[in-house]
Amino acid sequence: MNSTEIKERDKKNIINTYKRNDTVIISGKNALCYSPEGREYIDFTSGIGVNSLGFCNEEWVEAVSYQAAKIQHTSNLYYNAPCTELARTLTERTGMEKAFFCNSGAEAIETAIKISRKYGNSKSPARNGIMTLKQSFHGRTMAALTATGQEKMHKDFMPFAEGFFYCEPGNIKEAEDILDSGSICGVITEMIQGEGGVNVLEKDFVKELKDICDHNDIIFTADEVQTGVGRTGRFFAYEHYDIVPDIITFAKGLGGGLPIGGVLTGQKTSEVLVPGDHGSTFGGNPVVCSGANVVIRQMDKNLMDAVSKKGEYIKEKLERMSKVESVTGLGLMIGVKLNGISPSDATKQAVDRGLLVLTADEKMRLLPPLTIEYEDIDKGINILGEILDQ
Ligand SMILES: Cc1ncc(COP(=O)(O)O)c(C=O)c1O
Repeated sequence: MNSTEIKERDKKNIINTYKRNDTVIISGKNALCYSPEGREYIDFTSGIGVNSLGFCNEEWVEAVSYQAAKIQHTSNLYYNAPCTELARTLTERTGMEKAFFCNSGAEAIETAIKISRKYGNSKSPARNGIMTLKQSFHGRTMAALTATGQEKMHKDFMPFAEGFFYCEPGNIKEAEDILDSGSICGVITEMIQGEGGVNVLEKDFVKELKDICDHNDIIFTADEVQTGVGRTGRFFAYEHYDIVPDIITFAKGLGGGLPIGGVLTGQKTSEVLVPGDHGSTFGGNPVVCSGANVVIRQMDKNLMDAVSKKGEYIKEKLERMSKVESVTGLGLMIGVKLNGISPSDATKQAVDRGLLVLTADEKMRLLPPLTIEYEDIDKGINILGEILDQ
């Protein structure tokens, strides 16, 4: 099928929930991908932070293909080796104790909410509130959407689950008032608000928030769905903040392109859930976990240092462009505030010139694969220069 036929079929038979770019992509290698007609695109999106090793990394393809041909799924009623291996490496890497696997970021957040609520309920039935931050994003399922601190995403889907509270990022006094009320069991926050506009939280705010949680025996969850697995130049972004969360949620980049999500739990939270409390049919799927094991193996210090350097390199080039007001983010998670052009216009112009970029709230957002070569970075930056520096 050619691009026109694919687009027509999509419009006819798929519910219109995505503002798709006018592009069909059918193949790719690292940071380059191609349309059915052979048009080449440079990828500054990683499929929204998913393809951390780029398109079709050889070791990843080999591991996934090997596992698919060996056994593809057994259910969680039986032990499975790739899944236990993944849990071992994730816990060793972070110092956390245990892992739970599911399929998406939203499901990971649901898990964190359930653990926090069960922990809170065990102390007092009144302790069931969850505090998140305004402008946050935690997913599209009903509880994860309720946790998301953006009214524009709530408006058509009431009523929501009770017991969610929202605090202004950086306002520690407001956080204190909510958390000292005795009714909160959990705090969930991104370290860098991704969908909310690549807003990097202040270090002091995060540390004080964590201190207040510890003081009140409140479960602190770092939502690392977008920031995790090397994206910011550290394995998890909380490592920039000198804190250790009680729960870490992960998804996106860990799977390297196949659906994964989950939580890591520490000493306080590892024994909260017991058989019957929670589950996920596909969670820990051996094919997905085999791919994730490759992602982790490749995510060494060299790669993460390279991510930090490439991020700085891109930021420095962008900051010199006349239509760039400011650049935020860490590593290869970059937000660009523009002037004189809207993020959606810039995105469209970039696609027309052969570069894939993202938006996030009022900004343009770049999430290139962590393995992108400098040559492809330069090609992408040149295209951005044509749009943002005329
Ligand atoms: C921080 C964060 N949490 C949760 C989610 C939801 O993840 P998913 O789309 O896999 O459900 C996202 C998705 O963008 C995210 O960025």
